[in-house]
Amino acid sequence: MCGIIGYVGRQPALPILLGGLRRLEYRGYDSAGIALQEPRGQLTTVRAVGKVARLTEKVNAQLPPAAQVAAQTGIAHTRWATHGAPTEANAHPHAAAEGRLCLVHNGIIENYRSIRARLEAKGHVFLSETDTEALARLIGEHYQGDLRKAVGQALAQVEGAYGIAVLAVDQPGVLVVARKGSPLVLGLGDGETLVASDAAALVAHTRRVIYLDDGDIAVLTADSVDIRDRHDVIREREVAELGLTAGAVEKGGYAHFMLKEIYEQPESVRNALRGRLDAEHGTAVLAGMGTSSRDLAEIQRIILVGCGTSLHAGQVGEFAFEDLADLNAEVQQAAEFRYRNPLVGSHDLVLAISQSGETADTLAAVREAKAKGALVLGLVNVVGSTIARETGQGVFIHAGPEISVASTKAFTGQVAVLLLMALRLGRGRRLSLERGRALVAELARLPELIEQVLAQNDAIASVAARMATAEHAFFLGRGPMHPVALEGALKLKEISYVHAEGYHAAEMKHGPIALLTPGTPVVVLANRSPQLDKVWSNAEECKARGARIVAVVTAGQSADTIADDRIVIPDCDPLVATIPAAVALQLLAYHVARLRGCSIDQPRNLAKSVTVE
Ligand code: AGP
Repeated sequence: MCGIIGYVGRQPALPILLGGLRRLEYRGYDSAGIALQEPRGQLTTVRAVGKVARLTEKVNAQLPPAAQVAAQTGIAHTRWATHGAPTEANAHPHAAAEGRLCLVHNGIIENYRSIRARLEAKGHVFLSETDTEALARLIGEHYQGDLRKAVGQALAQVEGAYGIAVLAVDQPGVLVVARKGSPLVLGLGDGETLVASDAAALVAHTRRVIYLDDGDIAVLTADSVDIRDRHDVIREREVAELGLTAGAVEKGGYAHFMLKEIYEQPESVRNALRGRLDAEHGTAVLAGMGTSSRDLAEIQRIILVGCGTSLHAGQVGEFAFEDLADLNAEVQQAAEFRYRNPLVGSHDLVLAISQSGETADTLAAVREAKAKGALVLGLVNVVGSTIARETGQGVFIHAGPEISVASTKAFTGQVAVLLLMALRLGRGRRLSLERGRALVAELARLPELIEQVLAQNDAIASVAARMATAEHAFFLGRGPMHPVALEGALKLKEISYVHAEGYHAAEMKHGPIALLTPGTPVVVLANRSPQLDKVWSNAEECKARGARIVAVVTAGQSADTIADDRIVIPDCDPLVATIPAAVALQLLAYHVARLRGCSIDQPRNLAKSVTVE
């Protein structure tokens, strides 16, 4: 996913655009670029491989101070490469019409090859490998002085997803933007208008925003916003008030956003639970589930779809729905769900789990489930996101902006809400008042349970120090701790580049144990649970082959004899324990990555939200 920001107003555009890019850099950071437009219309473009800091250096080296303040309009882009390597030639903005136009783009133009072939046959000489350049040149082909019209004509020939911003030399102070499948949000200021792919880039300038709909094309000037929908009908889109604060997108004194977000989890989980626990009736209050209790009682199966960490949260949810609500639940990787022609109907509840609410595979699963008549709910963090809007109902996790590419507080917020949902459905079925009240009490303790894990940060850092040189690691768990093992492995691999595998603890002896060599760290989720003895047996099998056992154990549990290192989590219901256990593994991964000198908030090859298939 890429980051886009545009500005048209009466201030120098350059610092606003560079500041916005820094807010968006977590979305992708292979390369970056900027186009500045002076009041007379001329465009100046600077592009750089690497992070935004490198672009800033080039701008300062290439643009004289007068030029840096003259431009009051501009667009900028930070790229996560999809077509073409991270090179300067492939960086955005891309120019067209002999330099009279330039464009930045987030998404994928799926039919770009045929567009490119048509244009090359007409004599175009492409300068990059990107799909974006094909779109820019197509707009240039249609451009005869009316930029909105040219954009509309070109987009009518395009298949795929786009969020774009376009400038033209002979239309100074005019920014044309359009979206389909990739988010764009407008910021309405006083005598200035902004556009960005993520509201985090706008919050320093305005809290009044408009979320464009798919198919919208908007013409922005310093004092006006003119939106037309896919049928070229003028639309007055709702102006929303951003719930973000500028501080929410700052590190706040932490070394990394990831550490800040790990430490925010007592509060973020408190936010997820706020107003939703009904101790008296031993249930959860979830207005966002939309449908009536009767409709929910008709649900015969729950299908949880998501990707990555959100998929792992869904796997914990699967246990919760079966255990608490006696409901048949299954998890499906969102991309697979879409292409398997799923057997889904009106008695199915499809839960789309997504932090960003923009993941293309999960969005596609939502659309497929709706087409097949299922009840579809979103379990999303970002308000106003595409999945939140297209499901139309669901439950927000209220975790606040998650900037670090590695998802932490979103996972614990998702699991907390899934437990609430399972409790809510369960109490409409066979779950007793007594067990419901006990679970409500446990859930209410979650912020305190997380605090107890955070208090062990130094101890966990010491365990990490004894793992930091390993090139391979295993994470083992049973029951709802199996997805926590998968999540712990994902955290370690995506920020420290250690090759980590998560397995069901019983699975090791069916092949993977062949990989063990003396000293390989094996992290075992050995918390209090009905299968604890079996987990220790699996750990023994690894220990017997020289593995180094790092055990996550429950406070007060009888001391074991085989763990080389222990991380203690507070005693609580095994379903609820998935959250403190996940926090422990987040800290473990963070410290290993820190000790290995990795780029923790922006790991190589990754982006925060994958808005392409
Ligand atoms: C998690 O640490 C990863 N960054 C990634 O797996 C992420 O969870 C996945 O891309 C899904 O994103 P979403 O929750 O925004 O849909």
